[in-house]
Amino acid sequence: MQTATITFDQFQSTKDDDCQERILAAREKLGDRLVILGHHYQHESVYRHANFAGDSLKLAKYCDNLDAEYIVFLGVHFMAEVADILSRPDQKVILPDLAAGCSMADMANLAKVERSYRELNKVLNFDEDITPITYINSAADLKAFCGEHGGIVCTSTNAPKILDWAFKQREKVFFFPDQNLGRWTGHKMGIPLEEMPVWDPDLPLGGLTEEEIKKAKVLLWKGHCAVHQMFRAQNIEQFRKEHPNGNVISHPESPFEVCLNSDFVGSTEYILNTVKEAEPGTKWLIGTELNLVTRLAEEMKPENKHVQFMSHVVCECSTMARIDPQHLAWCLENLVEGNVVNQITVPADEATLAKLTLDRMLAAS
Ligand code: 13P
Ligand code: SF4
Repeated sequence: MQTATITFDQFQSTKDDDCQERILAAREKLGDRLVILGHHYQHESVYRHANFAGDSLKLAKYCDNLDAEYIVFLGVHFMAEVADILSRPDQKVILPDLAAGCSMADMANLAKVERSYRELNKVLNFDEDITPITYINSAADLKAFCGEHGGIVCTSTNAPKILDWAFKQREKVFFFPDQNLGRWTGHKMGIPLEEMPVWDPDLPLGGLTEEEIKKAKVLLWKGHCAVHQMFRAQNIEQFRKEHPNGNVISHPESPFEVCLNSDFVGSTEYILNTVKEAEPGTKWLIGTELNLVTRLAEEMKPENKHVQFMSHVVCECSTMARIDPQHLAWCLENLVEGNVVNQITVPADEATLAKLTLDRMLAAS
C-alpha cells in the first residue's frame, strides 16, 4: 500500500550510524525487489551497501541482466541514465540525490554538439567522414546524437577497441567530452598529437583552421574532469625519488603528461585489480579519485602494500559525494512505503537511440 512520500527533512539531522541501521532494515524489508549498484568512487559509508560494484562498463553490463524491481544507483546521473536505458521498462532506477551529476559530462551539451555538427559540415561531410564517440560520462541526449549519426559510446576500459571500431566506419573521429581520454587512447594507437587538435565548441570552426580540420584524425572536445586534472607529472617525479622501485598507476582522465609518466593506465576496475594482484610489499602511487584510493590503501595493509594518493590537495569527486547514508536511507524507506523518489527516466525516443549506441559499444567491447 502506498502512503504519503516521506520528505528528506527529517534525514538531514539523522546521524550516520542511525542511517546505517535504517538502511539495513529497509533492505531487509525490500529483499529481492531491490538491487543496489555502486561505483568505486562512492564513500565507504554507502559503498558497503552495494550488491554489485564496478567501473562504468561493468555497471552498465550488470544493468542488462538484473531481475530486481528497483535499481538504486550509488553513482552519478549519467550512470543512472545508462541503467534506465539498459534495464527492462518495468524496472525503476533511483538516484538517491539528483544533484549527483558529473562536472565533466556537463562540459558538453546537445546544443553545443549540434552546433559543432553544423560547423564541421562547413568543411567536411560529417555523416560520411566522421564517427562521433561519446564517453559514457555524458547525458543520454548526446548518446542519442551518436546513435543518430552512426556513432558509439566508450568507457575508460574499452576506449581503444571503440576507437578502432570507429575508424573502421569512417576516416575521422569526433570525441567528447573528455579530451584526456581521447588523446591518451589515440596516442596509444600511434596517432600523432598534431593530428588530434582540441575542438573548442564555443568558437567558429572549433577554433581551428579548415586545414587543421582536414588534417585531423581525432577532434578532441575541450572538456576534462576537474578531479583528475589536479594530478601532476611532478607528483610522480617526487614519488619515484622517494620510492625508486615503486609503481605508478593512473586513470586515463588524467592529463597526458601524467599518463605518459605512469607505469599503468586504466579504468577504476583495472586500477583495483592491478594493485590487488601485485606482489605483497609493493609500493603504488595512484592517480584517481580519493575514496577509491583510501579504501584500497586500507584493504592492502595486511599485504604490506604501500598505496599513496597522487595529489597533496583533496581530490574527491564532490558530486559522487552527494550520495550519502542520509539520502540512501531516505529513498529506501520511501520504497518500503511504496513511494518511488528520484526516479531517473530517459524519454523513450532518446532512450531508443541511446540504447543503439550502448548496444554497439557492448558488442564491440
Ligand atoms: P570508470 O569507468 O573507470 O570507473 O570511470 C568513471 C569515472 O567517472 C572516472 O572519473
Ligand atoms: Fe565526473 Fe570526474 Fe566525478 Fe568521474 S571523477 S564522475 S569524470 S567529475
